[in-house]
Amino acid sequence: MKERLVIFDTTLRDGEQSPGASMTKEEKIRVARQLERMKVDVIEAGFAAASPGDFDAIRAIAEAIKESTVCSLARANENDIRRAGEAIRPAAKGRIHTFIATSPIHMEKKLRMTPDQVVEQAVKAIGWAREYTDDVEFSAEDAGRSELDFLCRIFEAVIKAGATTINVPDTVGYNLPGQFAETIRQLVARVPGADKVVWSVHCHNDLGLAVANSLAAVLVGARQVECTINGLGERAGNASLEEIVMAVRTRADIFPVETGVDTTQIVPASKLVSQITGYPVQPNKAVVGANAFAHESGIHQDGVLKHRETYEIMRAEDVGWTQNKLVLGKHSGRNAFKTRLAELGIELAGDEALNAAFARFKELADKKHEIFDEDLQALVSDETVTPEDEHYKLVYSRVCSETGETPQAAVTLTVGGAEHKAGAAGSGPVDATFRAIESVAKSGSELLLYSVNAITTGTDAQGEVTVRLARGGRIVNGNGADTDIVIASAKAYLNALNKLHSAGEKVNPQGDV
Ligand code: KIV
Ligand code: ZN
Repeated sequence: MKERLVIFDTTLRDGEQSPGASMTKEEKIRVARQLERMKVDVIEAGFAAASPGDFDAIRAIAEAIKESTVCSLARANENDIRRAGEAIRPAAKGRIHTFIATSPIHMEKKLRMTPDQVVEQAVKAIGWAREYTDDVEFSAEDAGRSELDFLCRIFEAVIKAGATTINVPDTVGYNLPGQFAETIRQLVARVPGADKVVWSVHCHNDLGLAVANSLAAVLVGARQVECTINGLGERAGNASLEEIVMAVRTRADIFPVETGVDTTQIVPASKLVSQITGYPVQPNKAVVGANAFAHESGIHQDGVLKHRETYEIMRAEDVGWTQNKLVLGKHSGRNAFKTRLAELGIELAGDEALNAAFARFKELADKKHEIFDEDLQALVSDETVTPEDEHYKLVYSRVCSETGETPQAAVTLTVGGAEHKAGAAGSGPVDATFRAIESVAKSGSELLLYSVNAITTGTDAQGEVTVRLARGGRIVNGNGADTDIVIASAKAYLNALNKLHSAGEKVNPQGDV
């Protein structure tokens, strides 16, 4: 029997710290359900003290998730920890993850605390957290640039105070694999009580080494890896879950551990997170990129046809790749629709939501005769939008574009329920539509990104549009899908405006305390 490698997913917390990747409560619940389906051990559902919205989302996830442990991040102060404790209260298994910075630069310049004060605060934090749960994780932020002797001292103190998982983050992605492994090896060997806790690592990808550093640590004793779907996360992101899990599984000859992850759920999870956050997956991304299992050169194709293992170390179906499957069509009934959604793990809240989704499916099937799983995912995304998320709503859109003429757009929107009409010219039909919307919304936001992807193949495919807007230091992504890309673009733009409208102020856990 191999030892268990605990997979701690932080897509909903560190992943959400990527610019514009903030998710609504409903979106977070969908991601959490997919993580549970994938049998992730721990889901870091958010940072409860960040905002009332974050608190509510963690609470809702704690209520919905039964198998995975649900965790909230908290800085090492009493208010944060009590918020985290309240948020995870309904969880079948709940964890509080508290942290404080330990590197000289962070202690001196950011916290303005002495090392003695940092140790004292960390010990107090564990005490507060233990009032809510026996499952308490402690992280030494910026451990990758901290002094080893100080790490030994603070870890010994928090273990005595009751921490059960000790996490060693390479917060700024500065370490190299050999060096990071040596740090972990020394900590496990030197810290009194090391054998009573789970050693964890949390690596950022600034030098493209997050996965390599995490795996090097596993080889010397780390038994939890913190990671995210598609490697989402602050700056260059975190270690990617799919790469960690598949490396451990594919090189079972090297790793003395195994994960409990159902790998066939990896690609659906990757697609869901990409679709919700608007962060596309690069085609050559390991495991989940569209080309990860595509053989282009003749020699490779020939080899694979003769014997698959000549050029493949993993099987596409083991990570959840399926052929674009024709699943439903114009004549499919409500029951077939409901059954396929259930097979995809999509649960709609009640008959009303199912009926609305089915009506949209019929509309889509009229325009596009073959409906694939990806179409259903996009369609259901629209369905989880709540009335509070829809301050701006598209009622009507028309564009006129002809050779040699300036494109013109006309839109009708509701803003807080009241109808407004507007028209505008633009350099293209999308530009004209955005100008018409903006003339009503007057958001004053800056467009940072506009991208269109075909969800499936063929010219009748739905276009999935991502729009990234910035205003007053806040960045949001909006998504929209439709067979008409101008309409998809209008939906994405309005989705982003709604996010700017609804999201309140949010505290970044790693900013000033
Ligand atoms: O990168 C980091 O140090 C973190 C901690 C809060 C664990 O995200
Ligand atoms: Zn991090």
